[in-house]
Amino acid sequence: MRIDKMLANLGYGSRKDVKKLLKDGAVKINDKLVKDAKEHVNPEEDTVTLFGEVVEYKEFIYLMMNKPPGVISATEDRYERTVVDLLEMEDAIFSPFPVGRLDKDTEGLLLLTNDGQLSHRLLSPKKHVPKTYFAVIDQEVTEEDVLAFKKGVTLDDGYVTKSGELAILKSGLRSDIELTITEGKFHQVKRMFEAIGKKVLYLKRISMGPLELDETLELGEYRELTEVELKRLLEYEVK
Ligand code: URA
Repeated sequence: MRIDKMLANLGYGSRKDVKKLLKDGAVKINDKLVKDAKEHVNPEEDTVTLFGEVVEYKEFIYLMMNKPPGVISATEDRYERTVVDLLEMEDAIFSPFPVGRLDKDTEGLLLLTNDGQLSHRLLSPKKHVPKTYFAVIDQEVTEEDVLAFKKGVTLDDGYVTKSGELAILKSGLRSDIELTITEGKFHQVKRMFEAIGKKVLYLKRISMGPLELDETLELGEYRELTEVELKRLLEYEVK
């Protein structure tokens, strides 16, 4: 790959900007000063430095965010703040997008990546990737509800959901539950509870396939996936 293309891909400016950096003597490949924009570099093997700092080359970025309420799961929007607006420039330059959507008021695990293939695999309706949500419900949740979700409930548009696994963590005037579903219909968790006459007061995604929310991330914080998480995700075989 040409050195100017590599640096431009990494977000160090346009090809023209990068050409100037090269001309100014800011770039070295394996400790050799390089001024020619056409110089070839192997990003896997060569060490490139810019002003003495090693430039890390990667094609893909994988970020885990603890999505805060009040931002939308999109890359851009004319009116609303998006999850991508929360990213640092050094991550935003890779143009990551959210894998799937959480409602504006939903919190929790959101994967952002620019790996279209992975995103496709995780979102494909054929793949049934399990997603687990923690929710607070406005009333008592019962064993009957557990059975109803297991059988599938009929949503407002007539769609019958696939089997969902409901676990009651605390039942009372307000209940805490965990629900695992393998599909991703619009507002699915909220609509499943509506189908049994109950309301979701608070919703947070805690896992998606092999990926679990890192609870040490504050709302709005994010980090790159660890090597172990990434390996698990890339090797994840959906049943
Ligand atoms: N189900 C919902 O109702 N909302 C979400 O954000 C995710 C799942």
